[in-house]
Amino acid sequence: KDHFTFDPGFMATAACESKITYIDGDQGILLHRGYPIAQLADQSDYLEVCYLLLNGELPTSEQKEEFVKLVTNHTMVHDQIRKFFDGFRRDAHPMAVMCGVVGALSAFYHDALDVNNVDHRNITAIRLVAKIPTIAAMCYKYSVGQPFMYPRNDLNYAENFLYMMFAVPADVDYKVNPILAKAMDRIFTLHADHEQNASTSTVRLAGSTGANPYACIAAGIAALWGPAHGGANEAVLKMLDEIGSVDKVPEFMEKVKTKEVKLMGFGHRVYKNFDPRAKVMKETCDEVLAALGINDPQLELAMKLEEIALNDPYFVDRKLYPNVDFYSGIILKAIGIPTSMFTVIFALARTVGWISHWLEMHSSAYKIGRPRQLYTGSLQRDFTPLDKR
Ligand code: CMC
Repeated sequence: KDHFTFDPGFMATAACESKITYIDGDQGILLHRGYPIAQLADQSDYLEVCYLLLNGELPTSEQKEEFVKLVTNHTMVHDQIRKFFDGFRRDAHPMAVMCGVVGALSAFYHDALDVNNVDHRNITAIRLVAKIPTIAAMCYKYSVGQPFMYPRNDLNYAENFLYMMFAVPADVDYKVNPILAKAMDRIFTLHADHEQNASTSTVRLAGSTGANPYACIAAGIAALWGPAHGGANEAVLKMLDEIGSVDKVPEFMEKVKTKEVKLMGFGHRVYKNFDPRAKVMKETCDEVLAALGINDPQLELAMKLEEIALNDPYFVDRKLYPNVDFYSGIILKAIGIPTSMFTVIFALARTVGWISHWLEMHSSAYKIGRPRQLYTGSLQRDFTPLDKR
């Protein structure tokens, strides 16, 4: 009687049509609007990729200049948002704060919440891309008890983020390290979009009800938080901490094989060959550590883990390769970003992908997302009064 296709985990269901991102998991290909991720990471920058994702084409130099100016002009948040932070505990996880603050943006920017109005949709996309680094940095500053830093219009997107994270008012000569800013920009670029992953699907599903975009992005942030998705970058570092030293790797691998633990930062639902983002991320990781002269024992541990895994039949048979999150955590750590902020940074970077999908959905006909189920519960039965049970 059930005529639905049963597809738990959506292994074989295309829920929408999209022109934004293409992935061929067997070949390890990732294209944004047709452009290979490695070319974008090497030759473009994050805001240009944002323009590409949002608009479908690379900008001309005038369009780029105008877009950068527009984003830069929207980086401040409503001053009352500063007070909103006071309601959170200082020791709260920054992702918990991020979910709440981004969801609350609809209470501050309700002048443009009509999802049927294209101008409202466009200005919301710009506001989100512009304000999300400010909010992410505020989450960090609040957690360490330092004053919030206002965004600076003379800095580029990644520099401004690092400035808001690490500058303090007393340090008037604070300078952002250009190597770290470049690495940060690349991390943003590599995380910008990834077609219908769990958080993007969540944003589309929430958006399909006509919910306001800030609420939809907050839903995306919530979905991203889990360790099987964006929370993996934080989980990788925790795992490396737990393993402790290279000689403990074989013991840890035995636990992985007996399924006591998962090797975080490995495996992907779609990539069954390699994750092209991980390839670029590894190069960036090497560059950053060399430039900073960092000799990180955790990196040595990670490399040993990778070497063993790539040669172990358990991983080879299951086509498990390092994913983007395996290396990003090591770079973020080298930049000085605390582990609890890793997933916040993923959310920051992915906001443009989420909002691009939300815009795409709203720019053509769509239906409310409403999966069915295979019911496996009781058949109809009569209610038994309490004294007869
Ligand atoms: N460590 C050990 N075994 C694994 C792992 C792993 N990380 N991932 C998958 N497997 C095994 C799994 O136990 C299963 O084995 P068997 O066939 O014996 O039952 C087999 O590989 C297939 O795994 P699956 O769970 O069916 O694969 P999935 O497509 O449902 O899950 C995944 C994909 C990414 C959730 C999973 O690989 C995982 O949990 N990885 C660790 C978390 C992680 O790094 N996530 C970040 C993904 S990339 C960034 C992002 O998109 O957010």
